[in-house]
Amino acid sequence: MDKIIIEGNGPLAGSVKISGAKNAALPMFAATLLAPGATVLENVPDLMDTRTIAKLVEVLGARIEKTDDSTYAIDCVEIKNHEAPYSLVKTMRASCLVLGPLLARLGRAKVSLPGGCAIGERPIDQHLKGLSALGATIDLSHGYVDIHTSSRLKGARITMDIITVTGVMNIMMAAVLADGETVIENAAREPEVIALADFLRSMGANIKGDGTATITIEGVTSLKPASTTIIPDRIEAGTFMVAAAITGGDVTITNANPKHMSALSGKLKEAGCEISADDSKIHVLAKNGIEAVNVTTAPYPGFPTDMQAQFMALMSMARGASVIEETIFENRFMHVAELKRMGADIKLSGNSAMIKGIKKLSGAEVMATDLRASASLVLAGLSAEGRTVISRVYHLDRGYELMEKKLEKLGAIIRREPSGESKKQ
Ligand code: EPU
Repeated sequence: MDKIIIEGNGPLAGSVKISGAKNAALPMFAATLLAPGATVLENVPDLMDTRTIAKLVEVLGARIEKTDDSTYAIDCVEIKNHEAPYSLVKTMRASCLVLGPLLARLGRAKVSLPGGCAIGERPIDQHLKGLSALGATIDLSHGYVDIHTSSRLKGARITMDIITVTGVMNIMMAAVLADGETVIENAAREPEVIALADFLRSMGANIKGDGTATITIEGVTSLKPASTTIIPDRIEAGTFMVAAAITGGDVTITNANPKHMSALSGKLKEAGCEISADDSKIHVLAKNGIEAVNVTTAPYPGFPTDMQAQFMALMSMARGASVIEETIFENRFMHVAELKRMGADIKLSGNSAMIKGIKKLSGAEVMATDLRASASLVLAGLSAEGRTVISRVYHLDRGYELMEKKLEKLGAIIRREPSGESKKQ
């Protein structure tokens, strides 16, 4: 397994280009299943997760060609298979995004139930509640969810018990081909939900209200293929903003959407960073040190849970004490033990972490436990004294494209040690 080795050094400086958003790309691949014909997806980040969803869509019958590093041509003329196998779903929970489109197109979808993962139990009951309200019959057996309908799905009024991003996406992708009107209340408002709605609209769907808590969908009888460009990754952009902050740097983040970054930008400003932005650029200047600020994660437009671990690394070396409360996932504190190995002073109590900032973290051997936890360790390593060695970086590769190359360009001393290299030396 690859390792990342970082020698903590001075402030990062320069500019970094943000890739397409993983969490916007994954539902787009699933949505291509809805229309018979050829689609082109551009600005797709080259990640383990995007490769997995491409493989899944291929297993279901699509013909896929990667025409360059970030462009996929996907032909969904013939979708014959309705089953997403365990071998793929176990590596990526977002595989369950094919449930809605398969049900709408084929009247049947069988997907291995995603198990719990490092950040929490993560059930899909809300996805199933919505699909069942649209008229589907659901059988759960042998570790699979088997959803079917013998007639066209029927529009329904659905109130989500909790706000779920992929849950609302699945219901939207089923409802676009249902008979009549579907109203989803208490819907997620994330930019990735709007991006999916935009893509579905360009395929001929009739969707209103995305980006608000009530989404209304008037079903149509068929959709035509369309092409799209994936929106910038707001979590990658946020991670680089924190990289600038934690190293006292001066970094310009390009190809980003500053409108998606309000909660994080606000917190970084409170912490003492100077932040300015135009249409697609964000500039972060952190010359006066970092003050402690409290953060509570919340659905968009609140502070993203996907930035919680990275922000905790920053608070570990802030002036003063802060509290970070995690309200989305019950177990998203796996990075705490690793940050403590680097000297961080953090106490956990239920879903809150109390962090007393220290002057300097110290480099150590640490282990990545999930995607965003890995990013927090990289950030900690950049600002720490001495060498940090992060193992199990395959977690990082699920969601960050060329992270160490991008950091190196900003002046970080960072390298990847491919598995087996240390043995060869
Ligand atoms: N939940 C349920 N029942 C459901 C669905 C969700 O109880 O049917 C709970 C979850 O267990 C969680 C909360 O609701 O406690 C919110 O989960 P949500 O469904 O919104 O998460 P998700 O759709 O599975 C997406 C992102 C995550 C991101 C969350 C929250 C994708 C592919 N994944 O997951 O991204 O953390 O929304 O914003 O879009 C990441 O990129 O590192 C990542 C984990």
